[in-house]
Amino acid sequence: MKILAIDTSCDETSVAIADGRRVLSNIIYSQVLLHKKWGGVVPSIAKRAHEERIDFVVEEALRKSKIQNPKSRIDYIAVTQGPGLAMALEVGINKAKELAKKYQKKLIAVNHLEGHIYSAFVENSKGNPKRDFKFPYLALIISGGHTEFVIFKNHLDYKIVGSTLDDAAGEALDKAAKLLGLGYPGGPVLERLAYEVGNVDNHNFPRPMLKSKDLNFSFSGLKTSFYYFLKGQDGKNAKTPLSGVKFLASSFQEAVFDTLTKKTEMAIKQTGINRLIIGGGVIANKRLRNLMRALVKKYKGEVLFPSYKYLSGDNAAMIGVVAGLKAERGLFVTNADKLDRIPRMSIEVTTYNSKI
Ligand code: KG4
Ligand code: ZN
Repeated sequence: MKILAIDTSCDETSVAIADGRRVLSNIIYSQVLLHKKWGGVVPSIAKRAHEERIDFVVEEALRKSKIQNPKSRIDYIAVTQGPGLAMALEVGINKAKELAKKYQKKLIAVNHLEGHIYSAFVENSKGNPKRDFKFPYLALIISGGHTEFVIFKNHLDYKIVGSTLDDAAGEALDKAAKLLGLGYPGGPVLERLAYEVGNVDNHNFPRPMLKSKDLNFSFSGLKTSFYYFLKGQDGKNAKTPLSGVKFLASSFQEAVFDTLTKKTEMAIKQTGINRLIIGGGVIANKRLRNLMRALVKKYKGEVLFPSYKYLSGDNAAMIGVVAGLKAERGLFVTNADKLDRIPRMSIEVTTYNSKI
């Protein structure tokens, strides 16, 4: 069963062709360079860039998967419905509707966060890696927009048990990098600088929410304390030499990762689940992967990360794989014309029911 999937939830225009869990092609056209100078994603720029490139990305995905006649070779069209930037989501949804009409196919709506969870089970075109599902899992989504614990009980069955009350972990990293003048996105550059000084922590910035017993996060206090630290006690900007920037980057990253790791330990204890799935852009980070590996070892569990590097960030392959599971269960959009974006969509919302 072949699915053409589209994701335009943020600043990547992505289209993939999936066949069950196998990905035949996945094209990602990143807009990072367009947004870089603004220090974050600008919705109107994202919308225009998606519109300009989406047709090319669709064509590339078909070409790479060697599909010449989509009408006979593609079974369904899938698209991310939310969460994400409203203006950006809209471009993908409109294109999905157009293709569904053109090729006379049913539409499948997918939650972007489901995609990040399933990215641990996405296979390459040869069907690797082969991973069996061993439910239940404790899933942690860590991206630029979300920091969420989800109990992944069974296929397409999720329960949120913790989330951020303000900024997401990736957002905190991005803001810290911006304050240090390191550009956007911040995660990768902080990782590199932190690695150069051995991931030390010599500033001991606050670890928010570790005293609370729930599984929620809050990163805005950490960001504020970092801001005031940089401003210096006399209110002037601290003139930090590059070596100092590296230590600051490393210490900030450690504060975020220490919080994530300790909360995850609490989540393992509270849920009794020691099999983890971690998805979302931030889990591209090697330091965080090592911390999480060490944690699950302590609890004799296991942790699954996205099966290939490109699957950590936003991509349509993960959307296509989720759509395949929905298609097997007959979970199609019943009125394609009425399909609308849901920018703040929760993973617990079942989008595929007959109301759509
Ligand atoms: O999942 P994603 O690509 O987009 C959203 O759905 O938000 O996540 C983007 C986030 C950004 O905050 C970015 O700084 C962060 O993931 N990120 C990283 C790394 N690569 C991307 N954070 C830490 N280390 C990285 N290597
Ligand atoms: Zn994402």
